[in-house]
Amino acid sequence: MAQRKAHSTRKKRVAKKPAAQAAQKKAPVAAASAPVVETTPVVENPKTVETPVEVKTAPVEKTAPVVEKPQAVEKPVEEKPALVEKKAAPVVEKPKAEVKPVEEKPAPVEKKTTPVVEKPKAEEKPVEEKPASVEKKAAPVAEKPAEEKPAPAAKKTRATTKKTATKAKAAAEPEAEATKSAKPAAKKATASKSKAKPAPVVENPAPVAEETTPVVEEPASVVEEAAPMYDMSNLPRRSIAFIGSECHPFVKTGGLGDVMYALPRQLARLNCDVRVILPRYACIPQKYQDQMVYRGEFYMDLGHTGRNYYVGIMEYICDGVVYDFIDNQEFFSSGNPYTNLVDDIPKYCFFSKAALAALNYMNWIPDIVHCHDWQAGLVPVYLRTLFKDSPVGHARSILTIHNLRFQGIYNIPTIQYWSGLPGEVFQMGALKDGYQDANMLKGGIAYADRVTTVSGTYAGEIQTAEYGEHLEGHLRYHSGKLRGIVNGIDYDMWNPATDPALAVNYDLGNVLDHKMENKLALQQELGLEQNTDKFVIGLISRLTNQKGLDLVSTVIPQVMDGNTQVVVLGTGDKEYEDTFRYYENAYRGSFAACIQYDEARAHRIYAGADALLVPSRFEPCGLTQLNAMHYGTLPIVRETGGLKDTVEPYNTFTGDGNGFTFNRYDAGLLLDAINRAKTEYFTNRYHWDEVVQRDMAKDVSWENSARQYKDLYLELTQW
Ligand code: ADP
Ligand code: GLC
Repeated sequence: MAQRKAHSTRKKRVAKKPAAQAAQKKAPVAAASAPVVETTPVVENPKTVETPVEVKTAPVEKTAPVVEKPQAVEKPVEEKPALVEKKAAPVVEKPKAEVKPVEEKPAPVEKKTTPVVEKPKAEEKPVEEKPASVEKKAAPVAEKPAEEKPAPAAKKTRATTKKTATKAKAAAEPEAEATKSAKPAAKKATASKSKAKPAPVVENPAPVAEETTPVVEEPASVVEEAAPMYDMSNLPRRSIAFIGSECHPFVKTGGLGDVMYALPRQLARLNCDVRVILPRYACIPQKYQDQMVYRGEFYMDLGHTGRNYYVGIMEYICDGVVYDFIDNQEFFSSGNPYTNLVDDIPKYCFFSKAALAALNYMNWIPDIVHCHDWQAGLVPVYLRTLFKDSPVGHARSILTIHNLRFQGIYNIPTIQYWSGLPGEVFQMGALKDGYQDANMLKGGIAYADRVTTVSGTYAGEIQTAEYGEHLEGHLRYHSGKLRGIVNGIDYDMWNPATDPALAVNYDLGNVLDHKMENKLALQQELGLEQNTDKFVIGLISRLTNQKGLDLVSTVIPQVMDGNTQVVVLGTGDKEYEDTFRYYENAYRGSFAACIQYDEARAHRIYAGADALLVPSRFEPCGLTQLNAMHYGTLPIVRETGGLKDTVEPYNTFTGDGNGFTFNRYDAGLLLDAINRAKTEYFTNRYHWDEVVQRDMAKDVSWENSARQYKDLYLELTQW
């Protein structure tokens, strides 16, 4: 996921990581051609706009004073815009809401929408963490000057929001009222496409999406197909709302998108009723936008902005999973899901609240709300505060950490301003981070009923200073509700026997022949010397500090021995991009640097390469090694996180194992692992081929892991 997540992390901490600099030192090329890795936005002097005191103000009139964008008080680490599916970044038409009749209901809403927040119940209330020393360590004082006054300011006023709306729709408000408010709106679709279709009036939102929202182009039968294929008669049924910031095939910058796609599909086969709530980004390819069906709309107050924001719900149903897209052009119109913290903090405050409000609005109250990463980190907090007396407040919550490096940290006043969360959640045991910051992921961890991460090893690692990204104390405190469940891959999406991207399809029975054909096709596609005797090493990755690319860059000159070819596919930090471009020039015909995001090409590399490199500095789970094994490509990985849990080291004496591994983060050890792989490939092909077949046969599907999630859901909902 090229520059996945411009998610937050502290610039300071990122800067501490030596990878980029190390790469420059070790790779002569990088030193010559590598510009700065991190792009820290220019920060202007902080404005001293006061945080509005009132939670609510009168509905915003058209003449409402223009408010400024929040000024970054501390420089957020701005990652490059994440790459999304390249194909299309269509401009999304303005939701029809803009021409919609104004909602006329008077709004005693204000009070209802933001009920006075009581302290969380005893069992829910995050307790102040005891290990004060840990917190002290984790909370460097010097992050920002004490006198700085963060300036939470409202975003640009260009809005999907109907300024003329006189009635605010309460986020936490009961469904009946929500429905009333939505009535007039429902008559108009938010998208022109959906307008062409019969847009159902959501007078009385039915819990079952299929009944009220016919699927466009995707026949309704698709929904039914998934069920009969599996005997679910003995399985207890549970309903789960997935809330996250990306999902294949709509928007994907990396593994989170894969998980948000595959896990709900697998859960549907385990008798789960799954609804995936996503932002309706403008960059979602038009073909999916066209298939969305208008589900309803309402207005929601947000934080201390004093404004009522339009929340449209566009729906798409596929393979037993309902996708509900939260529509608001003001927040989701950028070409990429993640831009920078200044925009992303308000965006995901809005999204988290709107997602819960949408569940209330649709009257679809899940047993479990399953949130993912910091972008949905506030969901468990909202659930136990502003939403606790609303229908969705009955749901239990799970927060899955896909990558602890990104946490959504910003100064407290700004997050308070946008979230509208009550003061008590900004305490040390919950959102407060250091002296002046709020950390959205940290708050989610405190308030969620369960916290999971994507491998058992990573679940342990993040409780240590080395991998804890300064939250290790917090995670240790909450370790009782933390567990690791390793990811799988979707066997329909990743199937060499049917994969339409491949030159030749193959399976376990004919892999040894057909993999060679795919290798030749890949060499031709990338301008490499076509020769099946070459050992082809692939690398498919976001080009970031996480992925161990400084090690790769260091060893390349020794890897390029005339019998080896290297193929890199990825985008990210310019330093790495330039380094790999340099190597492509230096080793013409043997080194291919594909600096791009290309799903189909990724599939062809998995099929055509002999080995795949994943030498990560840390890796919560990692999916590329799973894809590789499933395509008969042997992984060369560092023993960390999910890589350790999924790749058993090859043992030259017994012939057991799945790939080649090394433990310490060290270029020499990586080179050694690559050389061991080469030796096996060139001198012991019979055994190599055995491992190819073993890896293809290895179960890396979601089946087992989805069961573990289901068990977790059942554990939380015993009735
Ligand atoms: P992360 O989520 O940390 O980026 P993962 O290994 O979990 O790493 O997932 C990466 C996913 O993104 C895989 O499905 C991989 O195939 C895909 N991917 C990464 N980079 C690219 C790229 N440049 N082009 C196509 N797919 C990519
Ligand atoms: C994150 C991690 C990766 C994991 C993915 C999906 O992006 O970096 O290791 O596989 O999420 O869980």
